[in-house]
Amino acid sequence: MIIARSVDELRAVLDAQPGTVGFVPTMGALHIGHRSLIEAARKENDCVVVSIFVNPTQFLPGEDLSKYPRREEADFKICELSGVDVLFYPDVRAMYGEDEVRVTAPDVRGYILEGASRPGHFDGVLTVVMKLLNMVRPARVYFGKKDAQQLALITQMCKNFFMNVAIVPMETVREKDGLALSSRNIYLNPAERQEALKLSAALKKATEMVMRGALEAESIHVEMIRILEPLEVEYVAIVNREFESIAEVMIGNTIILVAARVGTTRLIDNVWM
Ligand code: PAF
Repeated sequence: MIIARSVDELRAVLDAQPGTVGFVPTMGALHIGHRSLIEAARKENDCVVVSIFVNPTQFLPGEDLSKYPRREEADFKICELSGVDVLFYPDVRAMYGEDEVRVTAPDVRGYILEGASRPGHFDGVLTVVMKLLNMVRPARVYFGKKDAQQLALITQMCKNFFMNVAIVPMETVREKDGLALSSRNIYLNPAERQEALKLSAALKKATEMVMRGALEAESIHVEMIRILEPLEVEYVAIVNREFESIAEVMIGNTIILVAARVGTTRLIDNVWM
């Protein structure tokens, strides 16, 4: 595995590489969810590039960037064992200069749900993903469906800017008991981890309701809130793939999302139907 720390190093490696490139952008603290993205990229491309960059511009003032989990040694091992060809591991200076042009998230879709809790967060995500895609120039880029709104906004950015890359959405990977894998799960103590199961339980209930034909969004919402109690729920939302609220679930065009705090840890989860 080659480790590139600058854009020049990355370019030198990729320019000498004739086949297709599959790309998995990450902020590190890699888990099995990331490995499933890397495995898919491995199967579908000649060369796999993973980036690890804790992007400061997607953290809001007051969100502690320095507390974001950093696991350099373990992450490098995971990449190596997963058959990654190139690990792009830049520092902030390799990624950002002074007084730069930024990408801004759309006014509505960028400021609801996650964007309402974290206004400006998606500007940072879109800006860094634009930079990374231009640096790596992959044929395919892999994102988890767990960050559904991020995935939708990146897809929209690539469409709006006529970017030539295929976006591959990947299923959320879960623990046996249903907990969606997340780099933030390490903050949960055993009691909190148990409480965190309420998110996947609420989504399971929503899925069961839809399967038996109870499609009304309001009833699903009420049931989910009941299951989530006493967690501090930030939102339960039932939207179409365009992230517009819908009154009734449409099979093939619905995402049900939840965000809640478990102790001090903010968790998100969703189900696509
Ligand atoms: O999902 C993430 O890990 C990050 O938001 C991403 C897409 C790597 C951009 O920093």
